[in-house]
Amino acid sequence: MGQLDNKVAIVTGAASGIGAAGAKRFAAEGAAVVAVDMRGPKAQETATSISDDGGHAIAIEADVSDPADVERMVSETVSQLGALDVLFSNAGTLRPGTAVELSVEDWDFVMGVNVRSVFLGGKYAVPAMLERGGGSIINTASISGLHGDGGAVVYAASKAAVINLTRAMATDHSPDGIRVNAICPGTIETPPVKRMVSDPAIMKVNLDAHSIGRLGQPEEIANAALWLASDESSFVTGEHLVVDGGLRSRSPLGRLADPRPAHLR
Ligand SMILES: NC(=O)c1ccc[n+]([C@@H]2O[C@H](COP(=O)([O-])OP(=O)(O)OC[C@H]3O[C@@H](n4cnc5c(N)ncnc54)[C@H](O)[C@@H]3O)[C@@H](O)[C@H]2O)c1
Repeated sequence: MGQLDNKVAIVTGAASGIGAAGAKRFAAEGAAVVAVDMRGPKAQETATSISDDGGHAIAIEADVSDPADVERMVSETVSQLGALDVLFSNAGTLRPGTAVELSVEDWDFVMGVNVRSVFLGGKYAVPAMLERGGGSIINTASISGLHGDGGAVVYAASKAAVINLTRAMATDHSPDGIRVNAICPGTIETPPVKRMVSDPAIMKVNLDAHSIGRLGQPEEIANAALWLASDESSFVTGEHLVVDGGLRSRSPLGRLADPRPAHLR
């Protein structure tokens, strides 16, 4: 018995990182998965890997910031797999820069991929989920949406918007059985992050920031998404689940003293 048996799930950003891990985890729990990405052949690789492991998946190439693409993503899902129960709106992007450095085009681009995508996901997925009598939407935000990370202001603004859009959509659609939640990952070892932390100084800052003492793995976010997708979280909606290896709760001072008993030091 899988936790998502008989469910149909769309996962966006499924060509790589958290989305690829989520698509594989959902499929391993019995869902028929639609792997969506703007990089169609890479999304197909995720779907093929799921099929090779005995799961059920198709791939759709789509730009999640484009209304026509998102409408098609949902209509093709329903026509090919019969329904829609879960939407993991995970695709996202980052352009670094302060308010002075960023162009207006950068602002619109990042807000389009990170925020308009979540709005469009709701716009087209909710009517399909209503046909099933309910569903679960999970949006990937970030710990950058919870505090004022510098150097990437539009990213921080976009992820804060995802958190509050999640709350508002939950308020609207929970009475119809559609739960809407967000996940706020800490630093997760996906391809763009691996490139970033290849600089040892940046790796050290990131390791120090997470009290668990390591970066997260995409599968650890996929596990959180699975819980929010499944009926195990049936009384949870409008929330943002922080999965950050202790980053947000950690004091800037770190540990004041070695907590081990003297004989173990
Ligand atoms: N990795 C981290 O440390 C971290 C931390 C917090 C939040 N996040 C968020 O997690 C999500 C996934 O990031 P990741 O680290 O797995 O990155 P990733 O680059 O490995 O995967 C992102 C995928 O999204 C796809 N994508 C980008 N724009 C798209 C668009 N317009 N339409 C369709 N697909 C598009 C890319 O092609 C890529 O395959 C993002 O929303 C990101 O902001 C990541």
